[in-house]
Amino acid sequence: MERLVDYAHRILSSHLKPGDTVVDATVGNGHDTVFLAQGVGPTGKVYGFDIQEIALEMAGFLIKSKKCHHQTELIQKSHDKILTKIPESEQGQVALVMFNLGYLPHGDKSLTTQPETTLCALDAALNILKPSGIISILAYRGHAGGMEEHEAVKGWINDQANLQILEEKDSEHPENRGPIFWMLQKSKLIT
Ligand SMILES: C[S@@+](CC[C@H](N)C(=O)[O-])C[C@H]1O[C@@H](n2cnc3c(N)ncnc32)[C@H](O)[C@@H]1O
Repeated sequence: MERLVDYAHRILSSHLKPGDTVVDATVGNGHDTVFLAQGVGPTGKVYGFDIQEIALEMAGFLIKSKKCHHQTELIQKSHDKILTKIPESEQGQVALVMFNLGYLPHGDKSLTTQPETTLCALDAALNILKPSGIISILAYRGHAGGMEEHEAVKGWINDQANLQILEEKDSEHPENRGPIFWMLQKSKLIT
């Protein structure tokens, strides 16, 4: 069965084109960052955020080994500070912001994304997106705090008048504790 993370890449790839500016809000080991960097190509730009130095170090190795480092900038900062790090000239021009919530795989499982900062980061993401831009969210419900964060994200999505849900895919886990994926599109009409 296709993993939800692979499904997400497959669905998102048609929303990426060479030259795009995009954001990876949770770099982790860098797999999503590489996916984004390959999608936007050498003329595009990926801004990647993570709070953990070890994550950015691991991601940096992967990104370099895939020859994606020219179009990638890794930033050790919480994603709720996105607005302070994306140049003003690129705010409102971003094609896609990707969130892969939870903890760093093979890392410290107690260091997870938190509902409060995640919701601030989603607000910021909506601000920097261009009209028709995409926010993707992969939320995990199985770890401590995961279900609460998922509920908070779901509530945030339901409150957004300027976002359309293009995809909502649940990983058919028997107790509804597996990951869930959303692909959301900013309205074409607002700037
Ligand atoms: C599930 S992992 C991301 C997986 C990653 N995208 C990949 O392809 O390997 C979640 C990451 O979010 C990071 N994180 C936690 N809180 C954060 C925050 N406030 N801002 C940015 N990243 C955060 C964690 O350090 C962790 O590396």
